[in-house]
Amino acid sequence: MESEKLILLEGVTKVYGSGPTRVDALNNINLKVSQGEFISIIGPSGSGKSTIMNIIGCIDRPTAGRYLLEQIDVSNFKDEELALIRNKKIGFVFQMFNLLPRQTALQNVQLPLLYSGINLKERKERGLYMLSKVGLEGRWHHRPNELSGGECQRVAVARALVNKPSIVLADEPTGNLDSKNSIEIINLFKRLNEEEGVTLIMITHNPEIANEAKRRVYIRDGKIEEDTSL
Ligand SMILES: Nc1ncnc2c1ncn2[C@@H]1O[C@H](COP(=O)(O)OP(=O)(O)O)[C@@H](O)[C@H]1O
Ligand SMILES: [Mg+2]
Repeated sequence: MESEKLILLEGVTKVYGSGPTRVDALNNINLKVSQGEFISIIGPSGSGKSTIMNIIGCIDRPTAGRYLLEQIDVSNFKDEELALIRNKKIGFVFQMFNLLPRQTALQNVQLPLLYSGINLKERKERGLYMLSKVGLEGRWHHRPNELSGGECQRVAVARALVNKPSIVLADEPTGNLDSKNSIEIINLFKRLNEEEGVTLIMITHNPEIANEAKRRVYIRDGKIEEDTSL
């Protein structure tokens, strides 16, 4: 089935540097993700979580092995080709929110649409719609310093979704939030996954947060140690 093959990593290896500075960050990773999944990737610091996310997110390429995204082998794509596919198919959420400080919530959410050449009217409509999905339509004109950490992260989630990506990747999305706001973000992810069918991959080192996902993949020393779907 089509949906079986949203993401396919086959024997993915990533080596940084060479000689005495060589780091084997990923070692023969096999991972299959279907449309509509909500996965957490869990592991200690330095285990390869961000490296795997950079490869899945088309920010970096594997040293060896294959990565098929919607059945397209992107393993050997050039930087420009990766950038195109990344803008179309991936939404990112970061630990530090990465919002533009001088722009309003709405302008931040609309940003990915600007790069896609969508006109002003539609940008505004889709931006406001996404802000309503994360419960912030009344705050569209606020700048990040006028919003709480949890609200900033909700703006970032709206921004990640506005281009209707195939996958949303979140790297430690609750790493800078207190427990109350962390729970709110996780509940938002669950709702977006269940009601909107958004495919989510969330990296965390927090077991409580990880347990909220439907499937958990444990990684250690660049290898998958356990995958609850297997
Ligand atoms: N650009 C890089 N150059 C060299 N080594 C790197 C680079 N990025 C990550 N590493 C190393 O690869 C390993 C995995 O890193 P990373 O994927 O960032 O782990 P995590 O996100 O789980 O903390 C670590 O040993 C790290 O030091
Ligand atoms: Mg990391």
